[in-house]
This record gives sequence, structure tokens and C-alpha cells, in this order.
Amino acid sequence: MTFVIREPELSQIRDSGKVLKKVFEWVGKNILEGVSTLELDARIEKIILENQAKPAFKGYKGYPASICASVNSVVVHGIPSKKEVLRNGDIVSIDVGVYKNGFFTDAARTYPVGRISSEAEDLIEAARVSLKEGSEKAVAGNRLGDISNAVQTVIKKYGYKEVRSFVGHGIGKELHEEPEVPNWGEKGKGILLEEGLVIAIEPMVNMGTREVEILSDGWTVATKDRKISAHFENTVIVGRSKAEEIT
Ligand code: CO
Repeated sequence: MTFVIREPELSQIRDSGKVLKKVFEWVGKNILEGVSTLELDARIEKIILENQAKPAFKGYKGYPASICASVNSVVVHGIPSKKEVLRNGDIVSIDVGVYKNGFFTDAARTYPVGRISSEAEDLIEAARVSLKEGSEKAVAGNRLGDISNAVQTVIKKYGYKEVRSFVGHGIGKELHEEPEVPNWGEKGKGILLEEGLVIAIEPMVNMGTREVEILSDGWTVATKDRKISAHFENTVIVGRSKAEEIT
């Protein structure tokens, strides 16, 4: 189902998004060499619970943790581990979902660990800018393809590849709702965007091939060629004249 949200529920979902803003304020200062992704998971879960919210991913289809931590060639859905310790030169995507006040929100950012290569910096920038340009199209009267095309156009301009086997999604009363939000598409195509539709836009951008594979743990999505990948995500409310990023 797809739900269009109106007041007072808009304030409730914004409140859910505020928890993620707090989470990422903390994450931005705490992605450091020597930290394990399992430690990050524990600290982030604590912040979520302290804010009267619940981690949305834990237990979702059996997922074992509160965050996804995807290092280097891992695209998305990396499972936090005590053995995975961040090293100088790594890039890591931290993806977090929360449930508060009856509403889900979902967001991700990719961070450098210490000093990274200029190529890795450029890849992260491509992913970040593609999310920004895509989100700006979340305005009533536009079509879904306008968002998808804006994302795709930025990634192409940078010379990278958008992943096509995973997509963004509607979000609200469920973590995953209709519509699917692909990171490629044509302007003017797809559903008409209505004020109050809430979507999670999440470009996954690969340095090499767009092809991915799922590793033997059943979750970890890695690039086929093991080149690096970056991922950003925001929960966005379609606005009458302006998109509203709430995470
Ligand atoms: Co998502």
C-alpha cells in the first residue's frame, strides 16, 4: 500500500526523522580507525532507544542488527561484526532505520575512514550529489521518473554506475511501501507525485560494474568486481512547492 500523509501525522513522521538526524550527528564524529562495526551498531541502537524510538531493521525478515555497515566493496546490508574493524582508507556506509510514533524513517550516509583516495572521495561525492538532485524533484506534479532520472544523470556525469538490483521505496506506516524508487529512469514517466507521499531515495553507486552478488550470509550485497561502492539515503516528503528531507 501507499499512504499519503497529512497533519497531524506529518509531525509524527518528522519526529521519527529527527531521531535519525541525531544518530548521524553522532556517527559523523565517531567513524574512526580501530572501531568495529559491531561497536557502532551498539552505540547507535542506544541512541535510538534513548530517543523513545525502536531500531527498524532489527528482526526485519530476520536481520540481526540495528544498522547496516557496508565497507568498501559492500554495497548495502553489511552485517555489523566484531571482526570488522575500520581501517585508514576504508569507506563505510552506515544505514539506519527507526520506528517512532507509528512511523518509519530510513537513512544512510557513506563516510571516509581517515585519509582515502581521491577516487573514493569522488565516488562518495557522486552518490551524495545524486541523492540531493533526486530529492529536489520530490515536488507535487512531478513524476517518479523525474526523481530517478535526476539521480541517474548525476551518476552518469561522474562516470560511475548505479546499482539496479536494489531500489528506494515508499515508507511510512511500513518500512517498505509502494512505490519502488529506482535510481534510473525517464523524465515524465512513472506515477504522479502527490503532496504528502513519503519515499526513501537511496542511490547505490559503484566505481566499476553495476553488477552485485549476495554473499553466503544471505544479506551482504557486494560488487561483483569487488571495486568500491557508496550509498546515501534520505526519507523525503513530497511537498507542494518544495521537497522536504526529514532525515
Ligand atoms: Co531504504
